[in-house]
Amino acid sequence: MSEKIYDVPTAWAQRAFLDDHGYRAKYEASVHDPEAFWGEEGKRIDWFEPYTVVKNTSFAPGAVSIKWFEDGVTNVAWNCIDRHLETRGDQVAIIWEGDDPSQSRKITYQELHDEVCRFANVLRNRNVEKGDRVTIYLPMIPEAAFAMLACARLGAVHSIVFAGFSPDSLASRIRDCDSKVIITADEGLRGGRKVPLKANVDAAIAKVEGGVDHVIVVKRTGGAVEMEPGRDVWYHAAADLVTSECPATPMNAEDPLFILYTSGSTGTPKGVLHTTGGYLVYAAMTHQYVFDYHDGDIYWCTADVGWVTGHSYIVYGPLANGATTLMFEGVPNYPTNSRFWEVIDKHQVNIFYTAPTAIRALMQAGDEPVRKTSRASLRLLGSVGEPINPEAWEWYHRVVGDDRCPIVDTWWQTETGGILITPLPGATRLKPGSATQPFFGIVPQVVDAEGKVLEGASEGNLVIADSWPGQMRTVYGDHERFMQTYFSAYPNKYFTGDGCRRDDDGYYWITGRVDDVINVSGHRMGTAEVESALVAHPKVSEAAVVGYPHDIKGQGIYAYVTLMSGVEPSEELRKELVAWVRREIGPIASPDLVQFAPGLPKTRSGKIMRRILRKIAEDEFGNLGDTSTLADPGVVNDLISQRQNKK
Ligand code: WTA
Repeated sequence: MSEKIYDVPTAWAQRAFLDDHGYRAKYEASVHDPEAFWGEEGKRIDWFEPYTVVKNTSFAPGAVSIKWFEDGVTNVAWNCIDRHLETRGDQVAIIWEGDDPSQSRKITYQELHDEVCRFANVLRNRNVEKGDRVTIYLPMIPEAAFAMLACARLGAVHSIVFAGFSPDSLASRIRDCDSKVIITADEGLRGGRKVPLKANVDAAIAKVEGGVDHVIVVKRTGGAVEMEPGRDVWYHAAADLVTSECPATPMNAEDPLFILYTSGSTGTPKGVLHTTGGYLVYAAMTHQYVFDYHDGDIYWCTADVGWVTGHSYIVYGPLANGATTLMFEGVPNYPTNSRFWEVIDKHQVNIFYTAPTAIRALMQAGDEPVRKTSRASLRLLGSVGEPINPEAWEWYHRVVGDDRCPIVDTWWQTETGGILITPLPGATRLKPGSATQPFFGIVPQVVDAEGKVLEGASEGNLVIADSWPGQMRTVYGDHERFMQTYFSAYPNKYFTGDGCRRDDDGYYWITGRVDDVINVSGHRMGTAEVESALVAHPKVSEAAVVGYPHDIKGQGIYAYVTLMSGVEPSEELRKELVAWVRREIGPIASPDLVQFAPGLPKTRSGKIMRRILRKIAEDEFGNLGDTSTLADPGVVNDLISQRQNKK
């Protein structure tokens, strides 16, 4: 672990909303009297009906219930758009930068209002009402933001499915939340390559019993697609027929805003449910303080709206704050490895927020593609999605930020709605690789395996002891699973699934997942999902999947596969299995290494010993621990001798 410390630059301490003193005082107040603190903060958004109750939350075993501002009435889209019109109607809300560097577009708050109302009217004409679920499967085009806000305006609950997911993954998400309306595009465009989104939607719907009522198709590339009469409609044609006025539906603070599916250690992805008031307050507040967002700043988060980072920090947080937010359709290395930095110069970006995997990939391309750009507009850098190794942190700081820009390493999760542990740029001394300190209202604790709360410098599992407004409220349709997953390991605490170390200065260092979730290029994945895709192949009898350290991706996917008897392993079959998983789940789930294993290490009761598989994948043969409980200790030597080499 790096012990280097970076002081807050003087200019930052002066211009930022909070310095170290300010942070400490505000933090103390937030945990000392959450009622009073959040009662005040809740006013950062506008309400149709003000709340009188602030916090009503319980983590009690079997009775977890989370409500914030519960009697308040508001609307998220109205907060992100309408309330800004008087003062910022002509200010740019969204800068869109296309995959092709010659394409970009600027959308003012007034234009955003008109686009969102039109989209809402198109949905309303297709009977979308408050509470209905709408699945969005779109590339990074402005219509993705319009569609989200249109749902919010009507009170419909959006479920965005990342456009890299397969038809099967899409189908299961459509089914789980029973959505009758899908919003998609003809094709997506990333790195010059087309992605057949509409065709994927057609294939997905074929797997959904009863189908869906409407598919709204945005024209992006103009590629040929099939349109089913009566069900499918071109967005531009439908939008031509409606007005740009649509009232914002009054929503209770605890009415659902969106569902976002995310992977856990077992079973199918869970529908994480976020609600209206608390979520928006928390997204807006964190966006303001963590990125020290001031009026006029140009802010760019490179995430995809298919992930929670895109929800909270491209769309909802920034727009609630009246910010200018940049939305990028492309990839970091297209047309060249300078793309990010060229976009920063082109749009004079001040605040830049990306993922360690992108930083590591660009670091490998050397300094030159960065150095040849100016980046003089940059003031602050951010990182999210996985632990950032100190080496990548230092490069990001020295080369991208010219030693001038603080880095906020923000730790959070789909479930948390917003950032929980993070530096504040004007307040926090930085240690490369540490997410540093809790945000306001967050009470992190380090616990051991038995649940004992560890004090001072310690290492263990990370839990959060009390609720915050951005917290997920339930697993859609399965509150039991919500309680079981997050509140059963440590009674009365939210269990994050992450391990962490707290150092002598009280800084938090996230060490990665302690469950069977892996983090591949910042994409979260359950090993169980990849396993079930593999065993669905007719030639596979058994599979076990673990993560292993990967230079660029953070973690790679290592699959141990036992074939059906009589099937011979071959290079061809290896490729076939990789292609199979891509097709079943999506390209992000492609195994990096597939090892054919005649047998897997099992206990006498038949349980696969993943600990051993993990060690072998990590190349730590000397450290396998106790193998005496194995039914057949001999398989371990076979596995070691066959270990696949890192790519
Ligand atoms: C990991 C993404 C270390 C962590 C916002 C968490 C991080 C999971 C960091 C959630 C960070 C996210 N440092 N690890 N700054 N940020 N993680 O739900 O393991 O896609 O549990 O949310 O990513 O991933 P998710």
